Amino acid sequence: MIPTSQAATGGDTVLVVDFGAQYAQLIARRVREADVYSEIVPHTMPAAEMLAKQPAAIILSGGPASVYAEGAPALEEAVVTAGVPVLGICYGFQAMARALGGTVERTGGREYGQTDATVAGPPTTLFADQPDQQVVWMSHGDAVTAAPEGCVVTARTPGAPVAAFEDDERRLYGVQWHPEVLHSAFGQQVLVNFLTRGAGITPAWTSSNVAQDLIAQVREQVGEDRVICGLSGGVDSSVAAALVQQAVGDQLTCVFVDHGLLREGEAEQVEDDFVAATGVDLVVVDAKERFLSALAGVTDPETKRKIIGREFIRVFEQAARDIVRAHQSEAGDGGGQEADHPVRWLVQGTLYPDVVESGGGTGAANIKSHHNVGGLPEDLEFALVEPLRTLFKDEVRQVGLELGVPEGIVWRQPFPGPGLGIRIIGEVTADRLEILRRADAIAREELTAAGLDRDIWQCPVVLLADVRSVGVQGDGRTYGHPVVLRPVSSEDAMTADWTRLPYDVLARISSRITNEVEEVNRVTLDVTSKPPGTIEWE
Ligand code: XMP
Repeated sequence: MIPTSQAATGGDTVLVVDFGAQYAQLIARRVREADVYSEIVPHTMPAAEMLAKQPAAIILSGGPASVYAEGAPALEEAVVTAGVPVLGICYGFQAMARALGGTVERTGGREYGQTDATVAGPPTTLFADQPDQQVVWMSHGDAVTAAPEGCVVTARTPGAPVAAFEDDERRLYGVQWHPEVLHSAFGQQVLVNFLTRGAGITPAWTSSNVAQDLIAQVREQVGEDRVICGLSGGVDSSVAAALVQQAVGDQLTCVFVDHGLLREGEAEQVEDDFVAATGVDLVVVDAKERFLSALAGVTDPETKRKIIGREFIRVFEQAARDIVRAHQSEAGDGGGQEADHPVRWLVQGTLYPDVVESGGGTGAANIKSHHNVGGLPEDLEFALVEPLRTLFKDEVRQVGLELGVPEGIVWRQPFPGPGLGIRIIGEVTADRLEILRRADAIAREELTAAGLDRDIWQCPVVLLADVRSVGVQGDGRTYGHPVVLRPVSSEDAMTADWTRLPYDVLARISSRITNEVEEVNRVTLDVTSKPPGTIEWE
């Protein structure tokens, strides 16, 4: 999907052929964790196209189908006979076995979950330096019952007589289980053995190489044109901007729209820390009043989102126009000076999962809803610079650290584009924002002090602005607002569980908020998983 020539590869590229399950992304990440660049391609890509990418190895992923099912994803024989080292996993293992003349049968003995595998046979490539007995994670109905000619059976499980095979001569390998999942005790080692011993790849894909390659690519892509970038304070746009800045320096202008819905210290983090660390040319648009007036009287969450999105685009658009105007050719206007280079590019912090999930790498990936500046009018046409589109989130963080982006930004937990606007249940006002900002700052401070930042996905603090409850604070009765703590643990925000924070941390947060934020007299804890609850309350 992404032409290899445009990716930072460190040399070798491993193609992960996606047979349609959830596993391809995980496999691609594990390969990169082994310091080898990987790219996901759909199983529908013709073999010739895969091979034209000159991969150093190919991994065939698992998939939900039975190789016998009608319309099951096909594997072109050329993929496994072209001389490129191949590792087949689960469905990919069976598809590979069939393509090479082995036998796959419906044995009736499904294996699902943790299974004991016995590594058999002579010293092997995949299982070198591993115990003969290992716990692996299985999920299959069909099984390979006869390995292809030339392939040695190297592992079995109770339900799979041929649970792994290897052919060192043709450099073909396969396992029935899923080495990419952590439940497979030696899974990563199996992948590393395939890459290094089987395919002979030297791991060279490191965050510092990646950063340098990406910088060079941006430089080549942009040339001498001018570039603009909307900064949100989040990890993705910050790292993208830092990278482009290192590539083209002051050809880049960043725009930060301060909508007044950020948390305490976040605007300063962008305006001061980020600028100091990276030296970017930053235009700050103070749009706090504008957002507040647009939100006045609005309580419906979706309406709030729409208003915030709309205002954001308008403000950004105006800032972009101003920048374009400032750099337009004065010579063209009769000024007699040399023309400046046009503002032609817009930086987007698109990540690899966005690219894969939007179905390919050819066009622009879906631009995230709230920071969607794709709605810019036609007289402001930009081409996209998306320097992070080959990277996963954890890799973006590593590149960010490499580029000197402040740690507070690099490790920032996810924060919604509409910000505190959707964490005030009820109308958004300046006073309410101030209350929530103080409560949120205390919760964050205590979580950081307890060393829990990297254990939780995020911890929204929500102000129930239209609810009041009776309390006693000091000498008198109060009639204040409750806040809700919503600490969640998650892998990807699609599902989440409420985090079991230590009681003493909760107690400290609660007593500090009720002591220090006068308007709040009750702190509650949200103990709902997702589903059924969402992470945010609105
Ligand atoms: P939910 O509430 O849907 O949140 O469980 C999942 C993740 O998405 C974030 N979120 C948003 N991010 N604009 C954003 O940019 C939004 O409107 C928005 N709503 C939710 C949320 O913080 C969580 O990480």
